[in-house]
Amino acid sequence: MKFKEFRKKWTPVIDDYLNEHLALNIDDAKVSLIMTYSVMAGGKRLRPLLFLATLNTLNHEIGEREIEIASGIELIHTYSLIHDDLPAMDNDDYRRGRLTSHKKWGEAEAILAGDALLTMGIEWIAEGSNSIDLIKIITKEVGPNGMVGGQYLDIDSTNNAEVADDLAFANRMEWLKTGCLIRACVAMGAEYAKADVASKDKLIAFAECFGRSYQIYDDLVDVVQTSTEAGKATHKDEAEGKNNTLTILGVEKSRQELTELIDRAKMNLQGLSGEILAGFLDLYQKVL
Ligand code: IPE
Ligand code: IPE
Ligand code: MG
Ligand code: MG
Ligand code: MG
Repeated sequence: MKFKEFRKKWTPVIDDYLNEHLALNIDDAKVSLIMTYSVMAGGKRLRPLLFLATLNTLNHEIGEREIEIASGIELIHTYSLIHDDLPAMDNDDYRRGRLTSHKKWGEAEAILAGDALLTMGIEWIAEGSNSIDLIKIITKEVGPNGMVGGQYLDIDSTNNAEVADDLAFANRMEWLKTGCLIRACVAMGAEYAKADVASKDKLIAFAECFGRSYQIYDDLVDVVQTSTEAGKATHKDEAEGKNNTLTILGVEKSRQELTELIDRAKMNLQGLSGEILAGFLDLYQKVL
């Protein structure tokens, strides 16, 4: 199966699960509304699809439990976006083509919706997998040594002359804030499907290239896409004093780096039935 067919098949299943189970699992109608607003605003569902594609690569069947885990991942990702947009962070007004959570509902409400999505995401992964190993992977990859640590470095390096040309710093920050959650999706799939050591190593090596490349792609989106295309404000990172690979290397070198990572990611899939996973890399054609 090709990536496009895979995405077409599973995206509506994830969307339906999210919509139905947010409504079912949250007692307070207003809290439910605020959380659902951001989760159901669209979004590519890349991370849940990546978990499911890893299962598919390992010939593991996808049923309701696996969709619950995948949806839990999307809740955690959506939390990270709500908090990333807050006035104290990137101060953004639009996300996924609509007003950001804090613009629509208020700042305290957005903070709490994020907190609730993070904890409910972990609950869904626990419930779906019944595996302490999956919980260890996800909590480690989104915590202080993963996504949140990267978000901290991002804030710390914004308008900070000390790291303005520090490519190693930018690499590390981008890997942590974006790469770690992406690696978690694949690592959880490999763990859940009980992949053999050789397959697991290849999958993780693929995920590390994909995870690293995804923030380079996102930073290119900021300079090459319109806000309508991206569903969020663009042409903003440099003006806001962000220090990232793109602001340091420029557009063409970033594109080169992205192309190299695509090749490396594909190489790591050799020996696996990796057609669907390789298809995730096609997304980058929009910015190359
Ligand atoms: C945006 O992620 C934030 C990053 C970590 C780069 P996505 O590009 O996957 O955003 P959605 O989920 O499609 O909205
Ligand atoms: C966001 O990076 C990373 C996380 C949310 C963890 P960005 O700040 O570049 O993402 P966008 O451009 O706002 O989506
Ligand atoms: Mg940010
Ligand atoms: Mg942002
Ligand atoms: Mg960005």
